[in-house]
Amino acid sequence: MRSVRPILKTLLLLAPLTLSLTLGAARAGGGAAPPAAPTPTVSPASAVQPARQAARVSLRALADARGLLFGAAVNHTLFDPNEPDYARTLNRHFNAVVAENAMKWAGLHNNREAFAFGFADAIVDTAVKNGQTVRGHTLVWHDSLPPWVYTIQTREELLRAMQDHVTGVVTHFRGRVHIWDVVNEAVSDAPGHPLRPSPFLNLIGPDFIDEAFRAAHAADLGAKLYYNDYNTDGLNGKSDAVYELVRGMLARGVPIHGVGFQAHLNTDFDVKGAQVQANLQRFRDLGLDVQMTEVDVQLRPARPEADELARQAAVYRDLLRTCLNVQCAGFVTWGVTDFNSWRAGGRPLIFDDMYDPKPAFAAVAQELAR
Ligand code: G3I
Repeated sequence: MRSVRPILKTLLLLAPLTLSLTLGAARAGGGAAPPAAPTPTVSPASAVQPARQAARVSLRALADARGLLFGAAVNHTLFDPNEPDYARTLNRHFNAVVAENAMKWAGLHNNREAFAFGFADAIVDTAVKNGQTVRGHTLVWHDSLPPWVYTIQTREELLRAMQDHVTGVVTHFRGRVHIWDVVNEAVSDAPGHPLRPSPFLNLIGPDFIDEAFRAAHAADLGAKLYYNDYNTDGLNGKSDAVYELVRGMLARGVPIHGVGFQAHLNTDFDVKGAQVQANLQRFRDLGLDVQMTEVDVQLRPARPEADELARQAAVYRDLLRTCLNVQCAGFVTWGVTDFNSWRAGGRPLIFDDMYDPKPAFAAVAQELAR
């Protein structure tokens, strides 16, 4: 059980921030020291005020009011009796849920002869009971595959295995899961960003992507089908490659409805400088939905804590504002709280180890309420 009085802790957390801002102002006013590099932060007044409001604001209510899917990735902690605040925080602040690992191929179909839906069903049924939307993650990915997939030798056999997996999973969750990351991270980081080598590309060929989307669509005509990737948030060579990939799919009549931008970032990420809005808008202009699907913003070590927390808040603020500016369909953080994030050391989420709201929470609340 984690229990320190949230408000006190948050105020303690924000005090140095307020202090440094006041000092900065004084220094800029008359002091000799060179002016510090301008830190993109949330304003001092608004930094303190949200701390007092934090306990009263429900991000979920604000997101519902905007019709925005505002979600978090969840893992086994959801069912840990020693962590009741996990479910409490999730249900109070998020109207959508993604299984961090439970719905990956190895999680659902480790044994070739049979699916194992137990854990994933528990996550989905709990979400549905709490009125939350579920994003299905992910059907076809080069990672988290069971050993038997690597034993397959022919295009025909792997194509059928992939189609059977997609059909089996989407059919099982039809009516409960309405959004799927059908293919994840199929574009490589190598120069020129060709498709990423994987059992699917190597054995089936580049059309494995189209075939995966067709199988998912056939299994659930009502589901929204996404292509999802990372390092594609701004205008760059990789997002260009994803843009050409999905534009080609649309031209071939492949049933794709949206693109997911993972946004695994750090506090140096410059949302404006990276031209995230222009990037997202060009996908919107193709008639596709866009979602920020795995947002986290890692703190950089060895920097003043208050400055880093303020920079983190600014990145969350700018990313969410940009997302809303292009009428994005969703904004999902990759985890609920720092202590069990996949990169916990960087404390990348909006709730700290004690489930207390961080300055990033305040920035997100202000943006959702704007
Ligand atoms: O469940 C097994 C457990 O039985 C075993 O004892 C333990 C030790 O090896 O491993 C556990 O599986 C781990 C699993 O997380 C559950 O904790 C895997 O080793 C580990 O690789 C897996 O890491 C996940 C990773 O994807 C790979 O699937 C991370 O939690 C998850 O945050 C990460 O998420 C990905 C997205 O799906 C796609 N985009 C990038 C993102 C970050 O890598």
